[in-house]
Amino acid sequence: MKFLIVNGPNMNMLGIREPDIYGNKTMKDLEAMIWAHCEDRGVDVEFFQSNSEGAIIDAIQEALTDDDGIVINPAAYTHTSVALLDAVKGVGIPTVEVHLSDPDTREDFRHISYVRLACLKTVKGLGFESYRQALLFLAAYLRERENKA
Ligand code: DQA
Repeated sequence: MKFLIVNGPNMNMLGIREPDIYGNKTMKDLEAMIWAHCEDRGVDVEFFQSNSEGAIIDAIQEALTDDDGIVINPAAYTHTSVALLDAVKGVGIPTVEVHLSDPDTREDFRHISYVRLACLKTVKGLGFESYRQALLFLAAYLRERENKA
């Protein structure tokens, strides 16, 4: 089993950006947590972060050749990008949307998520735990799908 973890714009600024909302831990800390979680479960994992919409779309398209699942935090592109929605729909890889904060309880413009329409589930508001919950869900979903096949 191999998962692609995608983080969108400004997620490389974790630890510096708005710590009252996103906490003091860095992107490296997040990746280390995910790495340890996946290693314990024999799951392979790949990380991708970009501030550019097109680069994120390219990474999603490339996942078609070797990833079984995607965990994506599209950050601000969540609320603006139909192109990202189309990319996730296009590859048809089981995908879970995650957010550190809960966008639904913040400004009105954060209440819309385009990518959500192509995702199996959204996990939000739990900090790094959102990613762990998403990984657990994806692994269980893929195992169940394999058992049924
Ligand atoms: C975010 C929420 C988005 O609204 C925001 O633009 C982000 C981070 C989160 O993880 O809470 O950059 O996706």
